[in-house]
Amino acid sequence: MTNVDQLVSQATAEFAAIADAAALEQAKARYLGKSGSLTELLKGLGKLAPEERKQAGAAINGAKERIEAALGARREAIRRGALEAQLKAEALDITLPGRGLPTGGLHPVTRTLERIEALFRSIGFDVADGPEIEDDFHNFTALNTPENHPARSMHDTFYLENAPGLLLRTHTSPIQVRYMETHKPPIRIIAPGRVYRVDSDATHSPMFHQVEGLWIDENVSFADLKGVFTDFLRNFFEKPDLRTRFRPSFFPFTEPSAEIDMSCVFCDGNGCRVCSHTGWLEIAGSGMVHPNVLKAVGIDSEKYIGFAFGMGPDRLTMLRYGVNDLRLFFDGDLRFLAQFK
Ligand code: DAH
Repeated sequence: MTNVDQLVSQATAEFAAIADAAALEQAKARYLGKSGSLTELLKGLGKLAPEERKQAGAAINGAKERIEAALGARREAIRRGALEAQLKAEALDITLPGRGLPTGGLHPVTRTLERIEALFRSIGFDVADGPEIEDDFHNFTALNTPENHPARSMHDTFYLENAPGLLLRTHTSPIQVRYMETHKPPIRIIAPGRVYRVDSDATHSPMFHQVEGLWIDENVSFADLKGVFTDFLRNFFEKPDLRTRFRPSFFPFTEPSAEIDMSCVFCDGNGCRVCSHTGWLEIAGSGMVHPNVLKAVGIDSEKYIGFAFGMGPDRLTMLRYGVNDLRLFFDGDLRFLAQFK
């Protein structure tokens, strides 16, 4: 059956020379198709004698299997070749550095506020909130600052047009008032938030932050104020030796009142440019809550007493991170802000 063997090697060689899938199918038809060479051989079987026919049939079928096998192998080779070519064409350079996703971060002042909240929470203070658009009563009158009181002039602010009596709060102290209106002593809160004044330079911004503190109970003393606030500053700046001093001052809503200074965190009180060579930094206003404030919110001022303070977290942030211009915090310049991620 050399005829058949020849056909097989011819087909195998032909297939091997083809690199295109469609051309391969055409070549297949030439051998295995309706009038393909092998099919023709099968048709010729009828003319043979029965003895010969059996042998020839087996040989032809064997050849058919081998041709089909050669065809299958070539199909697979062409498929793999095409896949490899595609992979090569679409190759990714996995050694290129990635573009990365830009990640956000907390604003430095937000970090400070969260730190302050965590420290005060740890000693049992709640965190209270209040509106930035305030009314005259809560911002001034209830804080023992009636209309025409000279202390109002230190709080020049933005008033709302066509809304008499409404203004942007000048401090977080109105939150004290709101909280005492709705809660009974004992009261222990801090109240962080944005406040507004008509002020703008390297250390003043028309919008800035304050954190109010308030502790009202039956016998809260000035010594408690000193202890709580000094302890807070030592923990905030991680400086166990930090010192505070309380300078007599005036606020309408406290009596007695004091400014709180702390030893300069840059020179430890020796004097440097940051503290104007005084060794001290002014950090908060404070005092014992004035009985008139308690009366304004219906708390018995004979039974209850306590302290309040108001500090500037923007200033704390500048000191903690060594930033010398307050406006950097509010310009929205990502080159500055991204350093705090
Ligand atoms: N509210 C004051 C201000 O903005 C700061 C302040 C001083 C708050 C003394 C207090 C306080 O609670 O007791 O100037």
